[in-house]
Amino acid sequence: MRYLTFALAKGRLAKQTLGLLEQIGITCEEMKDPDTRKLLFVNEALKVRFFLAKASDVPTYVEYGAADIGVVGKDTILEEGRNLYEVLDLHLGKCRMCVCGPASARQLLTHNEIIRVATKYPNIAKDYFHNQKNQTVEIVKLNGSVELAPIVGLSEVIVDIVETGTTLRENGLEVLEEICDLSARLVVNQVSLKMEHQRIRSLLTDLSDLIAGSYTGDRKEENHAKGKADGGNP
Ligand code: PRP
Repeated sequence: MRYLTFALAKGRLAKQTLGLLEQIGITCEEMKDPDTRKLLFVNEALKVRFFLAKASDVPTYVEYGAADIGVVGKDTILEEGRNLYEVLDLHLGKCRMCVCGPASARQLLTHNEIIRVATKYPNIAKDYFHNQKNQTVEIVKLNGSVELAPIVGLSEVIVDIVETGTTLRENGLEVLEEICDLSARLVVNQVSLKMEHQRIRSLLTDLSDLIAGSYTGDRKEENHAKGKADGGNP
């Protein structure tokens, strides 16, 4: 059996995803060592491998088949526009992609004025303003702390993720328009879905049952049994 390789977006999302996988019997003890400098983690018994990558690189690994499966936010999937199958909403990390700014910028959006939009997501912003709203804008790419841009006069508005809304509130900004809902998604390499159909289908069934609260755990027992036969590390 070949390895099924998972690419996980580093950080909180990876931890939450590993928590979900553990509940369906897919574990990786090696990954639990907080001091490890290893990059690739293996569970020999289950023939699965995991690695952590920068979120924006996860779709790349999956498109090229270096990972069969990836877990990453919908924001990254939209922004990267890679060829892959988005197969499951994990309902983790729920937030929204929004156009935000000071209340005074609202009229600039309704009057379709030529404005500057600062964002970490230039493709999402371009698609929204140019294709959906037919508004000509200048997109300014930033790499973080995007809320600063309208405060210091770099742009009139921003396109950014809003989760709790705290960052906006504490900086005198607000949501002006909503672009889309976001959450973590499971993505699959297009060839892997055909070649490893059975294994990936079982994984998807278990995960969607788990999320829906109807997971029975049959395969989890199988996975544990395999782990024991392999000398632990289930
Ligand atoms: C994200 C996002 C917002 C903030 C939203 O930034 O870009 O700034 O979180 O969260 P809130 O609505 O709960 O306040 P992140 O923390 O990833 O850092 P960044 O500003 O460096 O991108």
